[in-house]
Amino acid sequence: MTQNVFAMRPEVRAEYAEVRARLEGDAEFLTRLERFFTELRDPLAALYGDDPRFPGQFAALLDAIAATARVRDPALRRLDHEREITPDWLQREQAVGYVCYADRFAGTLAGVRERLPYVRELGVNYLHLMPLLAARPAPNDGGYAVADYGAVEPALGTMDDLRALAADLHAAGMALCVDVVLNHTAREHAWARDRPEYYRTFPDRSEPDEYERTLPEVFPDIAPGNFSWVPELGRWVWTTFNEYQWDLDYTNPEVFVAMAQVVLDLANAGVDVLRLDAVPFLWKRKGTDCQNLPEVHQLLQALRAVGRIAAPGVAFKAEAIVAPAQLVTYLGTGPHEGKECDLAYNNVLMALMWSSLASERVALMTHVLDGMPAVPPGAGWVTYVRCHDDIGWTITPEDAAAVGEDAHLHRRFLSDFYAGDFPASFARGARFQPDDATGEARTSGMTASLAGLESAGEDELARELAIRRVLLLHAVAFAQGGLPLIYMGDELGLLNDPAWADDEHQREDNRWMHRPPMDWAAAERRRVPGSVESEIWDGLQRLISARRSTRATHAYGAGQPLWTGNDHVYGLLRSYAGERLLVLANFSAGEQPVRRALLDEHGMRLTDAAAAPDGRPLRAGGEELVLAPYQFLWIRG
Ligand code: GLC
Repeated sequence: MTQNVFAMRPEVRAEYAEVRARLEGDAEFLTRLERFFTELRDPLAALYGDDPRFPGQFAALLDAIAATARVRDPALRRLDHEREITPDWLQREQAVGYVCYADRFAGTLAGVRERLPYVRELGVNYLHLMPLLAARPAPNDGGYAVADYGAVEPALGTMDDLRALAADLHAAGMALCVDVVLNHTAREHAWARDRPEYYRTFPDRSEPDEYERTLPEVFPDIAPGNFSWVPELGRWVWTTFNEYQWDLDYTNPEVFVAMAQVVLDLANAGVDVLRLDAVPFLWKRKGTDCQNLPEVHQLLQALRAVGRIAAPGVAFKAEAIVAPAQLVTYLGTGPHEGKECDLAYNNVLMALMWSSLASERVALMTHVLDGMPAVPPGAGWVTYVRCHDDIGWTITPEDAAAVGEDAHLHRRFLSDFYAGDFPASFARGARFQPDDATGEARTSGMTASLAGLESAGEDELARELAIRRVLLLHAVAFAQGGLPLIYMGDELGLLNDPAWADDEHQREDNRWMHRPPMDWAAAERRRVPGSVESEIWDGLQRLISARRSTRATHAYGAGQPLWTGNDHVYGLLRSYAGERLLVLANFSAGEQPVRRALLDEHGMRLTDAAAAPDGRPLRAGGEELVLAPYQFLWIRG
């Protein structure tokens, strides 16, 4: 006897009764169906209720959900149950992730399985493998142009290899994250041939031109415009990204159901977390920038309900590289009602950390993070220093003005600085998609190259500072609350790939400079005391172990950036379950004082342990605490 049915609205209850009579499944499945039926039905009815295709598609979707639940592997059901009673399994302080391209890391999925001891030694329990489903031949945007969602990229292995890898990871207490590219498929996908109505196509330029009036361009250099002429179709196709990535038309309920099937199949292959790629773009409306529209959120709510009912151990991670106010909306509004993703990339924090590192000032970061809406209950950020994409300098005029800066000049400064073009810049990155009109650009480059390790050469002091910068950024990302991700190579200080432009398919897209192959010789040097690799590796291990013993880093905790009285030192106060953490992080290359009274005001007591994650000794005397260049303190109370 279950009770949620009594909580349903009468009209939903009537619909549910019919569905319940038709679908078969075990008691757990039926309980979940009842619990999340409204969450599944409401957004879909709002999106497609008037579409004659909807009733049939909704029935097909429910059948697919029930079938997935029925054939789900018993081992995965155990995990489902465990995660249902451990809803913070990705948000707790023990969670730390690693991100890599399977081929660049270890050749194939079988190779990744062999390399798992390395990942385990690092101390992470979450592995995000970059796109690994069968893509069109290169160029394919690093796998983000999928030709067959039902198969693994042949060069990497098979679906069985994926299942075996997931099983290995589970046995080691780790979770597997895989990309699902929802917004577009490769133009080579069978749908492009057999189901042209799955895409947004136009007979002439009239509609595209209307849309273009308010549409930004994602890749103005390499793929200008948002539409591509396709001679075989004799039509214009919506292509937000490259011309070979065709945007799907989610006004068609069949598209949603087809993509839900992809999600269900990956869930049953043992994937634990689905990284939902480029979600802001899923819905389009004339007169808007066609990002973050309300319908996108309805789609995500429905997709999550699909997952909750069929495979509740599977989590969703949103990739929405948007402004602070919009970003948090991808985490939904509550633990169940209005729930969307469990995790979302905190690109705001990421970009602001780099901004502070270049300017040696934390005012902007403190101001923006302070103004960010709180994470809704049950969700958490993904915090990260670098990823496979460029860094976009999304700094608004209002935020810049609030701290006495000019947004355009600051963005311009950041793109110049990280391209190594600003006087005394330590960075060796590159401009990505520069805008000739404004002189602004996004930034490409590996963490270590952007942080000064490449320009340091043999200069020991410069090298030490670069290492400290790498660790500082990770220390803030690890403390901020949420799941921190380490991007492959950053644990060793790998530099930009010098050969990135040798490949003709990569030459035009300099994001490849920060996607180097794994350097296993460098990895060996992590054991050589005094090497760059060992200093960064050991530093990250100190952070991982500090995080594991600091409950206040739990994503459910409350976080509050605070003014330290010194514009070079970032302050963050976090609390969770009665424990507190005060982080002080010196973003400058000089020594910086902080008043000790700041600690007293927040009831924190300083002990030597506060300096352990950084590794350098504490210097506190009299009224002041002095932080060494780029030093950070984790003061736990
Ligand atoms: C995401 C990916 C990026 C890709 C784009 C299109 O933003 O992170 O690498 O180019 O989606 O799929």
